[in-house]
Amino acid sequence: MIGIRVPRGEGERTRRLLLERGLLLRDYRIIRDGEYLIFPVSGPVEGFELVETEFEKTGKRPHSYREVVKVPDERRPLLPSSFDIIGDIVIIELPEELMPYGKAIGNAILRVHRHIKAVFAKGSKVSGEYRVRELIHLAGEKRTETLHRENGIRLRLDVARVYYTPRLATERMRVFEKTQPGEVVLDMFAGVGPYSILLAKKAELVFACDINPWAIKYLEENRRLNKAFNVVPILGDVRKVAGRVKADRVVMNLPKFADRFLREAMMSVKPGGVVHYYGFGPEETLFSEHEAKIKAIAREMGFKVEFLDERKVRPYAPRQFNIAIDFRIL
Ligand SMILES: C[S@@+](CC[C@H](N)C(=O)[O-])C[C@H]1O[C@@H](n2cnc3c(N)ncnc32)[C@H](O)[C@@H]1O
Repeated sequence: MIGIRVPRGEGERTRRLLLERGLLLRDYRIIRDGEYLIFPVSGPVEGFELVETEFEKTGKRPHSYREVVKVPDERRPLLPSSFDIIGDIVIIELPEELMPYGKAIGNAILRVHRHIKAVFAKGSKVSGEYRVRELIHLAGEKRTETLHRENGIRLRLDVARVYYTPRLATERMRVFEKTQPGEVVLDMFAGVGPYSILLAKKAELVFACDINPWAIKYLEENRRLNKAFNVVPILGDVRKVAGRVKADRVVMNLPKFADRFLREAMMSVKPGGVVHYYGFGPEETLFSEHEAKIKAIAREMGFKVEFLDERKVRPYAPRQFNIAIDFRIL
């Protein structure tokens, strides 16, 4: 298709002129191209710069980037049907076969979701002590810091430097609903504070620990942003904090390694207090291995355990789930 390119300041005058001459193709969308606009036209227009380009049909706006992205037909079924949106940043998991089309996919996402400003592909699995992953820039701004809203709180964070997933929002709300006014909470692996800041709306005091200095930097900012001044950020290994805090409720959101910190959790919970434990489990034995570890450590430490609730939080890998176990220490 052909279009004419004009500086943005000339846009309205050009639109009227094209309409008057009956040259504007009104069923195609005008393109914004930096400081320029490109109008879809039925033929060359004297005195204007002509460009060859694709225009999007007006009418029904596409709902999914898959409707507009150009990839070879045989790879189309591989296009992911979902991605994570964190603030104004998208993080998408692309199979190897689609990586050569990453830029086109990123641009299609920007085109369909106008509030998105940057698109990244997952470049690795979440790994290391800080539980972060590599990201590959696909399109839009090369910016990894954003402001995300969840459960009525605002979280500033850098998706490249800290762990954060929007997929736990419902789980966090569930823990919030169980929290009672006046409680002391220990968030052992707090990240930028999605549990801590939320629970602080009900709890008396929330100790929020993380070993990643970037997480604590953002947690401090989020504490101010949400006026959650009853959150106490603690930078360091939770093993050094354990036992020095006595909490009514302990949150252990480190599913990969939480079983290694059960002793610390039990040292930090008051008699009758509740621990929210997270782990990963295969479909066949979702909870049993975790339960056995919890019972064994409690026995060693001379405690009794009452299991309160067990649930699948979300799928994690094929036939693997992120699970949650709530238990009381007596
Ligand atoms: C899976 S993330 C969870 C973050 C946060 N709770 C959330 O829901 O977004 C686990 C966090 O634990 C922190 N971490 C890992 N080992 C730790 C340790 N020994 N002591 C304190 N924090 C630790 C990591 O830096 C990471 O931010």
